[in-house]
Amino acid sequence: MVKKVILDVDTGSDDAVAIMFAALHPGTELLGVTTVNGNVPLVNTTDNSLRVLDHIGAGEVGVHAGLSRPLVRHDFPAPKRFVRDSDRDMHGTELPLPAPTSRAHPLGAVEYIVQTARALPGEVTLVPVGPLSNIAAALAVAPDLVELVPEVVVMGGAHQFGNETPAAEFNIWADPEAADMVLSAGFAKLTLVPLDATHQALVSLADVERLAGLGTPAGEAAAKLVQRRISAYAAAGATGRDDAAPVHDALCTAYLVRPEVISTRPVHVTVETRGDRTVGRTVMDLRSGTTAVPNCDVAFGADAALFNQLLLETFAHRRGQAGSEP
Ligand code: BDR
Ligand code: CA
Repeated sequence: MVKKVILDVDTGSDDAVAIMFAALHPGTELLGVTTVNGNVPLVNTTDNSLRVLDHIGAGEVGVHAGLSRPLVRHDFPAPKRFVRDSDRDMHGTELPLPAPTSRAHPLGAVEYIVQTARALPGEVTLVPVGPLSNIAAALAVAPDLVELVPEVVVMGGAHQFGNETPAAEFNIWADPEAADMVLSAGFAKLTLVPLDATHQALVSLADVERLAGLGTPAGEAAAKLVQRRISAYAAAGATGRDDAAPVHDALCTAYLVRPEVISTRPVHVTVETRGDRTVGRTVMDLRSGTTAVPNCDVAFGADAALFNQLLLETFAHRRGQAGSEP
């Protein structure tokens, strides 16, 4: 069954790969893209999302701009782990794709999410791969979202190691109060894809060559974006390898069509919203014999070979091309 998807993004190089995946895979119908402040300011996450969709000929997919800052915090913490546009920045303020010809839809992200979920009850999978500000705001105005949306797939969190801080992964750290709201909202199924999984699904320079060799707009863009990620991770020494990098957000879209690309277990997860050094930490109750009721299926493993195969198969498609199920 084709999954109807709203992708909530802070585009971002890995968000861009996720957008192309959801727009091109025959197993997903990308209903709309909603943008949020995160990797870069909202104006850029919106512009970058439009660039990506235009580049692959999917300019008809609506892009809806959302929150330009976290729910509660006024001092938006811009990513501190690299200087923007430096050799350690795996995104860049503007993605290296032509300026968009499409424009953002006049309907805002929060309104779009609520209206679409109400129009298609039980049918929309929400896939937030940036800070959770839009989803939390949608929950605040429409608590019925919890009943309307059968599954939420979140890229965020970390158990073994953080990236923004030793304790916290960026998406959760960038709006911890929003993340806490979403994780504790009571969705029937919430799949959390943390760094523990995404760092097992690395894309290598050899994979980049294969993507470039596809000769499609998506293959070429993915190759360029992932190549930059690999250089930035190597400059930062962030993976212990200089020839491969995680493409976090795209692992979530791959999961939509091939759930076995990750392995999960049910866990009770809360978000630290207070501690100076630990803010944004996803606290996972992995104690044996715990009585805490799981609220997430947390991915602790990922199949890198399958992930790369899915990227390659999906980006062989051109928009509008009648393709067989990859
Ligand atoms: C997450 O943070 C962002 O930098 C990426 O786009 C991804 O969603 C990884 O921590
Ligand atoms: Ca992201």
